[in-house]
Amino acid sequence: MQNVLYLSLEARAQFKRLLPLLDKPLSKLEKRDQQLFKLRLERYFQNLYDGLEPLYGLRSDFEAVLERLLLLMAKHFCERPEDLKELDMERDLTPDWFQRETMIGYVFYVERFANTLEGISDHLDYIEELGAKYLHLMYCLKPRQGENDGGYAIEDYRDIDPRLGTIADLEEVCRSLRRRGISVCIDLVLNHCAKEHSWALKAKAGDKKYQDYFHTFPNRALPDEYERTLPEVFPDFAPGNFSYYPEMKRWVWTTFNEYQWDLNWSNPDVFLEIVDILFFLANKGVEIFRLDAVAFMWKRLGTDSQNQPEVHDILQALRACSRITAPATAHKAEAIVSPDDLIHYFGTGKRYGKVSNIAYHNSLMVQYWSAMASRDTRLMTHTLSKFPATPSSIAWATYIRCHDDIGWAVTEEDAAAVGLNGFAHRAFLSDYYSSKFPGSHAKGAVFQYNPFTGDKRISGSFASLAGLELALERGDRRLIDLSIERILLGFALIAGFGGIPLIYMGDEIGLLNDYDFDKYLDTSADNRWLHRPYMDWEKASLRHKPGTVEQRLFQGVVNIMRAREQTPHFHSHYETVIVDSTQPAVFAYLREHPLGKLLALYNFSEHPQLLDADFLRQFELKVFDQLQRQPLDISSGVLGLEPYQRLWLV
Ligand code: GLC
Repeated sequence: MQNVLYLSLEARAQFKRLLPLLDKPLSKLEKRDQQLFKLRLERYFQNLYDGLEPLYGLRSDFEAVLERLLLLMAKHFCERPEDLKELDMERDLTPDWFQRETMIGYVFYVERFANTLEGISDHLDYIEELGAKYLHLMYCLKPRQGENDGGYAIEDYRDIDPRLGTIADLEEVCRSLRRRGISVCIDLVLNHCAKEHSWALKAKAGDKKYQDYFHTFPNRALPDEYERTLPEVFPDFAPGNFSYYPEMKRWVWTTFNEYQWDLNWSNPDVFLEIVDILFFLANKGVEIFRLDAVAFMWKRLGTDSQNQPEVHDILQALRACSRITAPATAHKAEAIVSPDDLIHYFGTGKRYGKVSNIAYHNSLMVQYWSAMASRDTRLMTHTLSKFPATPSSIAWATYIRCHDDIGWAVTEEDAAAVGLNGFAHRAFLSDYYSSKFPGSHAKGAVFQYNPFTGDKRISGSFASLAGLELALERGDRRLIDLSIERILLGFALIAGFGGIPLIYMGDEIGLLNDYDFDKYLDTSADNRWLHRPYMDWEKASLRHKPGTVEQRLFQGVVNIMRAREQTPHFHSHYETVIVDSTQPAVFAYLREHPLGKLLALYNFSEHPQLLDADFLRQFELKVFDQLQRQPLDISSGVLGLEPYQRLWLV
């Protein structure tokens, strides 16, 4: 081992101190495996050290924390199954595995898609028809009973919701999908756990050690101080950020619901617990961890306690742990924050490329809905062209719908830059998508109206928000056609932006809002269940029946995904450069690949658009459309785009 020379003096001293401690725990492994672990440790030790030192470096037990961490990692490495170790080696050699153009994601609630984990095997043909290589199983780990924020209030990270199966089932699902080249993604909620988690129960019972796992306060003095600058996530059904527990006579930090207790990451025991859980699950075969609500993980008085630099340190340290112990895994940050904040989740400056592998492209999603409502892509072009450059080793998760609401993340500055008033535009979007705006095609509902900020987030399924529900109600064929094209434009956008397109269950067959959601006690308060319907397998079976809405959508999605797989320009390694299409309704960007350029064009209006051939000529393209797999004729001097047409020109 020679890289040690590249470690900083402090890191090198720690590394040299720690290395001999590993001999014993690793001794049960073959020499080659021992060597591999040590090599990876050496390679990523600086990242690990640089993540941990700012968090815990001033503590007197810092060295002991490092020791405990390394022993924990060594233990899990020893327990790691052989086939996963082979996958680790494969991915050491192909670190771009999740960036490839063949990567396509499918996201579903296990219960709503397949009833149980075991049930997933009955639907593999469906998953493979879509070409999914990445399955996000929502939710898996055992949540509290009753209301649980859609599975985001975990009672036991080492167990599965008994209604869905067991840990052995998860292991089996991961194994059988892995054999088919499909990676399993699950949620790991990092910001909070359920108040029924054993840590919280012990804290409530007065155990000081476990009270330190949370942010607790004897009175309102500090909570009131914090509240001055804290926003509210659920102002409607869970106002305030703190909850009182008479049994321990303390206030607890609860950013989301009262039953979700924020974890105290300034306590290294919390970090070690999560590492232990992460590798427990990685060794069961989970390949992608969706790290939930990461923006909130570090608290700082006088701030909104979101996106604090320490969050990026924690994530960098966790990432380094995975690269050493289970390199086959990838980390996806769920940070639904502004572009300037978001970029840090990939790592900037000294953390460049070291923080997470994948992050949600929230802005692309918001801008899709904004441009669809206004038939104008200038805000989209402006906002996305200002996006900071990303490291070439990462991938966006691109999506149009997910299980959450849509918040109108449009800043005043961006709106003003294209002649809009931010407040008015956000209000317009809320009205448009809650069917209050005259002539709107959308059917949706307001989620969490905040009277102080005027924010009205939106719930609703892709199809209902895109006009299919209204069109079907009216039995209007033209409106049905238009809504199908709107939806397919969305799929083409996420498939062609350079990231992992995430297909949210049911959108591929146009499932509408589920108005029955409020019949069930556990879901009635939260209208996000409007767009979390049960899979309708009868409708799904129509995907092969020509002329049905389901078939037009499903086949449309499949065609887009097949075209994506055959277009190397969509490998996430390459940047997306937004260009001004010269037509307000047409969104355009370029992806430059060593094989040549790709120009993507999307008509966000129900009216045909004309682009001057000179605009296209500047890109020196042969004008072959990868989506339809046909050459285009621009000899007339213009290129016409049909309503909602999309083109991937190479
Ligand atoms: C994430 C989840 C969301 C949940 C929140 C709190 O944002 O996507 O559904 O409400 O975390 O756990």
